[in-house]
Amino acid sequence: MNVEELVETVEGKARILVPNPIKYAVGGRPEPAKAPVFFNPLMSNNRSISVAVLQAFIDSIGGEATVCEPLSGSGVRGIRYLLEVDGVSKVVMGDLSREAHALIVRNLERNGVSDRAEVVRGDANELLSRVKCDVVDLDPFGSPAPFISSAVRALHDGGLLCLTATDLGVLEGRHYNKAVRRYGVFPLRVPFSREVGLRALIGFAAREALVLDAGVTPLIGYHERHYYRACIVVSKDRADAVEALRNMGFYGYDQRTLKRWLARGYPIGAPGLGGPVWIGRLMDPEFMDAAVRRAGDDVRAFMESLNKESVAPPLYFRLSELGRVIGFTPSMDSLIEAASSIGVRVWRTHFAVDGFKIEEGHKLAKLISAIGSPL
Ligand SMILES: C[S@@+](CC[C@H](N)C(=O)[O-])C[C@H]1O[C@@H](n2cnc3c(N)ncnc32)[C@H](O)[C@@H]1O
Repeated sequence: MNVEELVETVEGKARILVPNPIKYAVGGRPEPAKAPVFFNPLMSNNRSISVAVLQAFIDSIGGEATVCEPLSGSGVRGIRYLLEVDGVSKVVMGDLSREAHALIVRNLERNGVSDRAEVVRGDANELLSRVKCDVVDLDPFGSPAPFISSAVRALHDGGLLCLTATDLGVLEGRHYNKAVRRYGVFPLRVPFSREVGLRALIGFAAREALVLDAGVTPLIGYHERHYYRACIVVSKDRADAVEALRNMGFYGYDQRTLKRWLARGYPIGAPGLGGPVWIGRLMDPEFMDAAVRRAGDDVRAFMESLNKESVAPPLYFRLSELGRVIGFTPSMDSLIEAASSIGVRVWRTHFAVDGFKIEEGHKLAKLISAIGSPL
């Protein structure tokens, strides 16, 4: 790539060269996938949240951590880790593309962090088969599924696996056959598909780990824009693998009563149920407290909202669903007011603007009658 085809962009503490987005616009909008090296400024929140998560993770283990980012693109993510996270001793960065490899080398030099980085041109699985590290960050085009097994192998016991997935349509069940093929998941079309899509992704990672006798514990799992992100501790202990298996199961939904549930057990494959999915916690509230304290201004409010939601029960409801049953769609404010009047705790959810979660053990019907209409 010629120098004139590159522009400098600043993200966090990194100043990196990226392909000029104006040159790779489609219909007036920059299209990062058309550029010779991929860089998507809309993923800056993903990277900023990862900086906070990585810092809180390293704080929790004490000492230092080595990171492998085998799908690096421009190198922005790994460079931000080197510049912004205390305790990152080394980042191994890789990419299949010759142009990406050359740009990563330049960007590392530009940011003065080449001495703590290694750059490899090649296939991610091949790179992961040769490294041992504390953190693997998979940020692919689409699905991380093809790389998860190698990532688990590359991690030390207690290491952190970070995954981005942009194939939401598959995970949420809009492409049934692909979900079966790619993730071994039989999805249902449900009003809470955004949450079960994330649970399908984490469930797949858990199953890949189980094959290797490893257990997983999610520290953070969320949705934003066009992607899911999950950061999961991988424990190479058979007892933790057995524990992780207890967090696998299926989900069900009754359209008539709006009842939804998670059924523990794997593999069962009962008709009418979707899965297998992760049925355990998507976030660790204690870890989230620590990660929020490490968050930058750009992502603090979003991480605080995730943290509030981290203690809520699984499977959100939608105001629009209530509307279908009771004949009018209540506002979120009236729902929250009605819940507080009968002493029932509800949470908003980041999964849907009209989504809410309700304290376990409380019947939706009670809440609906408090709003003013019987179920
Ligand atoms: C979504 S981009 C990475 C973005 C980057 N992590 C960031 O935060 O900006 C995915 C990258 O993976 C690379 N890639 C695709 N398949 C690969 C493979 N099998 N092995 C290594 N790199 C691959 C592509 O060249 C591309 O640069």
